[in-house]
Amino acid sequence: MLNKILPVAVGAVALVALSACGGGSNAATGAGAGGKGPIVMGFAQVGAESGWRTANTKSVQESAKAAGITLKFSDAQQKQENQIKAIRSYIQQKVDVIAFSPVVETGWDTVLLEAKRANIPVILTDRAVDSEDKTLYKTFLGSDFVAEGKKAGEWLVKDSQGKSEVNVVELQGTTGAAPAIDRKEGFAEAVKAAPQIKVIASQTGDFTRSGGKQVMEAFLKSNPKIDVVYAHNDDMGLGAIEAIEAAGKVPGKDIKIITVDAVHDGVQALADGKINYIVECSPLLGDQLMDLAKKVVAGQSVPERVVTQETTFTQEQAKAALPQRKY
Ligand code: AHR
Repeated sequence: MLNKILPVAVGAVALVALSACGGGSNAATGAGAGGKGPIVMGFAQVGAESGWRTANTKSVQESAKAAGITLKFSDAQQKQENQIKAIRSYIQQKVDVIAFSPVVETGWDTVLLEAKRANIPVILTDRAVDSEDKTLYKTFLGSDFVAEGKKAGEWLVKDSQGKSEVNVVELQGTTGAAPAIDRKEGFAEAVKAAPQIKVIASQTGDFTRSGGKQVMEAFLKSNPKIDVVYAHNDDMGLGAIEAIEAAGKVPGKDIKIITVDAVHDGVQALADGKINYIVECSPLLGDQLMDLAKKVVAGQSVPERVVTQETTFTQEQAKAALPQRKY
């Protein structure tokens, strides 16, 4: 009896092993689909708009190398049409997996369907897409941007206690981008708790230092009483500092500044007293992305959402954290 069962059981184990390997690829070794050669990943990056983005690109490139994954990398210069072109070219090249950080939330269904029909798994990293069809991608690895906006607003609510009027100007990220939409929403939600806080102007600075500076210059000209700047990233906050100083005011004192990211230059400005509070958004997504890529190429299941762990920094915490800051 045992003799008869055993070959069947062994066969079943072999079958399970084969299907777990997705037809020959292997999550542990990082072999590409079909088990031949290393995994090839096509990565469509947003651009190089900020210190955060530069650190994210470095993280992805270094982690791919360490994981033995061949990386095809493209920079979309913040343009959706460039990202779509890059994804189509990765589909044509029959890469094993596509990863991308969508510049804006909407307008991806057609190209993602093309990838799905070509049997190429897609991983969203950093930013999400706004699509009804969740089967168009395997997983989304990145921050909770609404929570980041809330943390920024909660700090301001505490800081505004006992004040009768707090006028805020908001420097938004790229129009239509998930972090711009969500950070605005989270902040607005949190500051409802303090009716004296009013967002008196809100405009996009496109996540760049020059954009932040330009918009802040215009805000300073048209608004005689600005108490606080809420910038959706450090770079725009750093641009705002330049505009505030050029207007003869003291950033961090005359006008308080709250930002998101905690890249090195931002944390330095916080330690120097020019920024008042930073909500961290980690760009170091490379290692987790490569692990997820190996799993999806091997046909293994992955969680549909992987949320990045993040903290916040006061001026005192920034002074302590600065020497160890990796980016
Ligand atoms: O998507 C993440 C955001 O994009 C970062 O907060 C910002 O700096 C970057 O440009």
